[in-house]
Amino acid sequence: SQELIQKLEKTIENIPDFPIPGIQFKDISPIFLNPKLYEEVIEDLVAFSKGKVDAVCGIESRGYLFGIAIAVALEVPFILIRKKGKLPPPVISEKYDLEYGSAEIETREGQIQKGQRILIHDDLLATGGTTEAAAKLVEKQGAKVCQFSFLIGLRGLKGDERLKKFNAGIYHILEY
Ligand code: PRP
Ligand code: MG
Repeated sequence: SQELIQKLEKTIENIPDFPIPGIQFKDISPIFLNPKLYEEVIEDLVAFSKGKVDAVCGIESRGYLFGIAIAVALEVPFILIRKKGKLPPPVISEKYDLEYGSAEIETREGQIQKGQRILIHDDLLATGGTTEAAAKLVEKQGAKVCQFSFLIGLRGLKGDERLKKFNAGIYHILEY
């Protein structure tokens, strides 16, 4: 709602030139100082996914902050997508390119079931590189990504265009 957007705009702190010059860092940590506001955020994200997904995948690490609460409210499993080397074997991995170099994310084998309708959740959609890799990781396990949700979408980076090929719903509460 417009009211929730306004509360979040007042709460999320913008830090210019962090972690590197030219980046406007959005600090979501003040949300966790306000449990009522946190609850409203979860309610909003849950409303988008209610009855539409069989499991939630959250992306390390900020994707866990809201992702688990969404899954609990929906009464569906939560699956951790982690950065390489953090989960014990057996794991399924997906490599992806960064501006400089590459990265890799993983889930534990067997936690995603074939045919499941999956929500991929993260705090922020920027270039979409991380989320696109997460979606590939899910779909190569025989599940279907049917929704993406974020707290924040960054306009201008065209992250949503990288996600279109999955033919899934995309939602973010607010946009910068
Ligand atoms: C940030 C953010 C998203 C990702 C978005 O995570 O939380 O996960 O970058 O960027 P993209 O759309 O360009 O891929 P970060 O890698 O900083 O790690 P963190 O969540 O552990 O803080
Ligand atoms: Mg992240």
